[in-house]
This record gives sequence, C-alpha cells and structure tokens, in this order.
Amino acid sequence: MIKNVLVVDDDPNVVEIITESLQSNGYRTESAYDGVSALEAYEKYHPDLVVLDVGLPRKDGFSVCNEIRSRDVNNDVPVILISGNSVPDTMLRGFNSGAQDYIKKPFSVKEVLAKIDNFLVQANGRKNLREANEILEDELEQGQKDYKRINRELKKKILDFETLFSLSKDLNRLRDPEELTHVFFLTVIGQLAIDSVALFYAEKNTDRYLSYVGGKGLRNNVLKAVRLTRSDGLSKYLLSKEDVVYLQDRGLPEDVARESVFLRDLGFPYCYPLIVNSHLTGIIFLGEKINKLPYNREDLAMLRSICSSAATGLENSRLYSELQDTYLSTIKVLVSTIEAKDSYTKGHTERVAGYARALAEEMGMDKDQRDTVSFGAVLHDIGKLGVYETILNKPGELTDNEWEVVRSHPEVGANIIKNMKFLESACDLVRHHHERLDGNGYPDGLKGDEISTGARIVAVADSFDAMTSNRPYRKALGHREALDLLLGQGDKFDLTIVKNLVKLVDRGIIKE
Ligand SMILES: [Fe+2]
Ligand SMILES: [Fe+2]
Repeated sequence: MIKNVLVVDDDPNVVEIITESLQSNGYRTESAYDGVSALEAYEKYHPDLVVLDVGLPRKDGFSVCNEIRSRDVNNDVPVILISGNSVPDTMLRGFNSGAQDYIKKPFSVKEVLAKIDNFLVQANGRKNLREANEILEDELEQGQKDYKRINRELKKKILDFETLFSLSKDLNRLRDPEELTHVFFLTVIGQLAIDSVALFYAEKNTDRYLSYVGGKGLRNNVLKAVRLTRSDGLSKYLLSKEDVVYLQDRGLPEDVARESVFLRDLGFPYCYPLIVNSHLTGIIFLGEKINKLPYNREDLAMLRSICSSAATGLENSRLYSELQDTYLSTIKVLVSTIEAKDSYTKGHTERVAGYARALAEEMGMDKDQRDTVSFGAVLHDIGKLGVYETILNKPGELTDNEWEVVRSHPEVGANIIKNMKFLESACDLVRHHHERLDGNGYPDGLKGDEISTGARIVAVADSFDAMTSNRPYRKALGHREALDLLLGQGDKFDLTIVKNLVKLVDRGIIKE
C-alpha cells in the first residue's frame, strides 16, 4: 500500500525538495505552509507520517505536533520535526510534544528519506501488532462471554435436571393425588416463574368431561365451575397437537378459539395436554410469566419435560387411589361379616382402627406408616371369620380346645390377606397384634423389639377397647381405669404407646 506523507514548512523550497524526492521514491505527498492548514490537511488526508517545521506561522510546530498526538491516540503517525535550531532545550521540547525525531537544517534529503522509511516501517509494525492484539482481545472477550454463557446454561441445565429428577422421584413416591398435584403445581410455578397454574382432569365417573381438580394463584373461582368436553374443541385439538398451545394464537380453529378466549381471559395464555397411552387425561393451564414476558424456548422445553413426567405420575396415582377405594370397600365388607358373626365385637374394629390411627398420628408416623397401621387395625381380627360362631358367642368359659381355635385367629387372618399385594405391610400387624413384650403372647411368642411398632400400637388399641367394652363375663371399665391397668403392664405393652394414648384421652381426642 502506498504511504502518504504530509510535508509542512513555511519555506516552499523545502517542501518542494522533500516532496519531489518522496514521490520519486514511491510515496504520495500532501503539503501545507502554516500550522493551521497543516492540521486541516492532517484531518483531511490522514497521512501515515508528518514532516513538520518548528517555526511555522499561525501555529508553531510544537503546538501542531501536540495536537496531532492528541488526535492520533494509538500513536500510529510518526512526526519528524525540522528546525534550524539545535539548542538541546528546543529539541527536548520537540520530543515532549510527541515528535519521534528531530532533524536540523540544513539536512541531506537522503537522511530525511532514510528516517521516513525507518519510522514508517516501525509504525507499520506497531500498527499491525496492535490490530492483531485487538483481534485477540476481542476473541478473548468473546470467549469469556461464551464461557460464561455456556457455564450459565450448563448450571441451568443441571438445575433443571435436578428439578426433573426430584419431580419424577416424587411422582414415583407420592401416591396421594392431592400431594402429587401440589408438588406438580409448585414445580411448574417455580421453574417457569409464572403467576398461576390450573389442572383439569378426566372426571372419574364419566369419561366425557375434564373438570377442575386444583390450581394455584387463580384470579377468581369461575374456573372451578368449568367443564370441558373431552372429545372435541380444545381437548381434541390438544390431543392432536401433543404440545403447548398458545391460547392467543390467531390460527386456532373456530371452536377451539371460543374456548380459548374464555380461558385466556381467566389469566391463562398457555395450556399443555397430559397424554397417557394416546388418551388425553388432563390439561394443564399456565398463567403469565411474573416478569410479563412471553414464554421463551427454554420455558417451553422445561414445561414439556415437567408435564410429560407428570402425566404418567398423575394417572398412576389416580388409578392407585381408585384401587385403594376398591380395596377399602372390600375390607369394609369383610369386617362387617366378622361383626355379624360376633355380637360382642360390634363396633370393636372401627374403634380399634380409630385409636390406632390417632396413635400413629400422635407418634409422628409418615403417611405410608399411618396407612399401614390403619389397614392393620381395620383387619386385625379378620381371622375370626374362620372361628365358629358358637365359640365366638359362647356365654360360658371356653374349653382348652376352643381357646386353641380362638388363638388361631391372628394366623388365619394373616393368611387371608397375605396374597393381597396392597395389604402386604398390614399382614405383620394382623399376625402379631396378640404378641406381648415379655414373650407370652401368640402366635409366635415374639419378644420386645421383635414386635413391630405397628403391631404394638394395634395391641394397645385392641386391649384398650376390650377393657372398655362390656363382655359376657364382666362389665366395661372406664377409660381412666383401663389406662391405669395398661400403665401397670409395662412388661406386656409398650409404655411409650400407652402414654400417647393417655395424652389422647387427656386432650379429649378419644372420648368415653
Ligand atoms: Fe384379636
Ligand atoms: Fe380385637
């Protein structure tokens, strides 16, 4: 590239000599004859180098040099001062004003040319280096930005993954639909930072409608009264889309748009289908982002992941609770069968179950353990189904043989339920509700810690009810008397459980 040199001197002869020799050496030149026009020419031509006389009219060479330095921030343009004066002070002033060299008049043109060549090569090298460095810095900065962005995205991904992982763990762990929807709502609201969420689910008794089952942050109660047809409109559309639907979308079919306007006005701009085995089991409606922005790509991806794990979990929990209902009604039928056989135990099962449930709760057991205790208590005497009515209702004392039959009821009961997967955990409570801490109970003669807490709870509840009920051979004891009797039998009953029972009676939770 041809280099451009600005030559400034108030003596036209000097300018002429220098420019001529520069041009014959391949340079392009511009010239000026005073300080002010020198700066104008500098601004206009952007020279690569300036040869500058010190003693200029209108503005001296030092001031011009200073000015050039302040404009040329990267120090790319060398300035060579020319002066008739070689007093060290003047030279020093020249260097201080930013000149690279100082040539004394009269000069040899060769010397000037050699210096110009030299400075231009240096300046060019510096400029190239600087530019390369700038590119590197830019790349570095971009790299750091990329690194930070990737790091941020990675952290978010890990967080998302953890959320999904804990959600799917919850979905497998939580069988209670209410608890499950609660976790689901909190996850959706928290992860998407939205103000509200609502879940519609297939109605139990008819498969024709979806209705409201729960939500968070609703603006009003209107939604709770809404039913959506499962086979057409929005439901059908969502099932065919299998994806997020934006309810403000202008391209929605007419019947879908009608439902959408309504739901959108209730504060839900988006919805997502819950699909299990190609059936629409529910629809999740999603509120506005708290920052009022539209959902971004990551939000939608997150939403898809959460909802697809939730769909199966929610359906399983519903099936599970339906199954549980079926089992419970079966159990109730079984229990009423025993009570029909044994007139003295009327209401016994129900009371024992009530005491046992209250004890399990008082003792801080978790939901699964409470359920086990509850089922175990309801079923504890189910083995009496196998005991002859004549024995159960015999007014007088039982013979040894008859006792043997009665004492078999825990074992018989455990055998009845042992094949029901759902009641597996209650089996131990049924079998061991007549075991005693000192080992004198039946059927296995277990001692102390060998008897599970659940079985001990049922044992206390069972004995407490037996003591406080009328029997053919004695009258019922009062609650206080029965509790004192139990407290005196620490060798047989778990006193921690008995003391909890005392608390429940004291607080009036268990009444006479
Ligand atoms: Fe029993
Ligand atoms: Fe009993």
